[in-house]
Amino acid sequence: MHIDILTVLPGLLESPFQHSMMKRAQDKGLLTIEVHSLRQWAVNEYGQVDDYQYGGGAGMVMMCEPLANAIDALATKRKYDEIIYLTPDGERLTQSRVNQFSLQQNLLLICGHYKGIDERIRTNYVTREISIGDYVLSGGELPAAILVDAIGRLIPGVLNDETSALTDSFQDNILSPPVYTRPEEFRGWKVPDILLSGNHKNIDDWRYEEALRRTKERRPDLLND
Ligand code: ADE
Repeated sequence: MHIDILTVLPGLLESPFQHSMMKRAQDKGLLTIEVHSLRQWAVNEYGQVDDYQYGGGAGMVMMCEPLANAIDALATKRKYDEIIYLTPDGERLTQSRVNQFSLQQNLLLICGHYKGIDERIRTNYVTREISIGDYVLSGGELPAAILVDAIGRLIPGVLNDETSALTDSFQDNILSPPVYTRPEEFRGWKVPDILLSGNHKNIDDWRYEEALRRTKERRPDLLND
């Protein structure tokens, strides 16, 4: 899979993909990520990519021309399955949307800033608009990093234990059960006996019940979906 990211702050995306699973995905050649500075397509020598909004009001808007030229230039190299704009008014990112994205070959992510991007780019180029939650961040870079991480770990071969993504929280609209590791007793706090029993059927049943209990307690909305 290849992911291009268009941003005015490429420095913000230098580190997130250089560790752990995203590094492994790239080292194994399963994922390539290119971060592009939008200022390469600025409208003047001052690097301008934003302007005041028509109709007045506080906050700048990212201009059509740099974005359109950038997308056109990148699209000469590959055909994008989706052009995704990260924005708080997009559709909420869920595990099932992440699963769908992980099946694509080429994605272009656009990070917004200031008041956002000119609506004409959204109408004429963007194919998906994604929000990572109902809160506003100062830009789309961290949401883009989150999206890439969530997608990247699902690419076959990235996770060491191929089955572990299937038991993640949310994969079946249910949270994960509690987990324990050594020692069996720490400060008098014990690991549930059943996990030490060696009876895999009972362990699976217990995990399912615990996952369900946790979901009912914390996220009953998931069970209604
Ligand atoms: N940009 C700013 N806030 C955002 C959010 N919550 N999701 C996606 N992009 C954003």
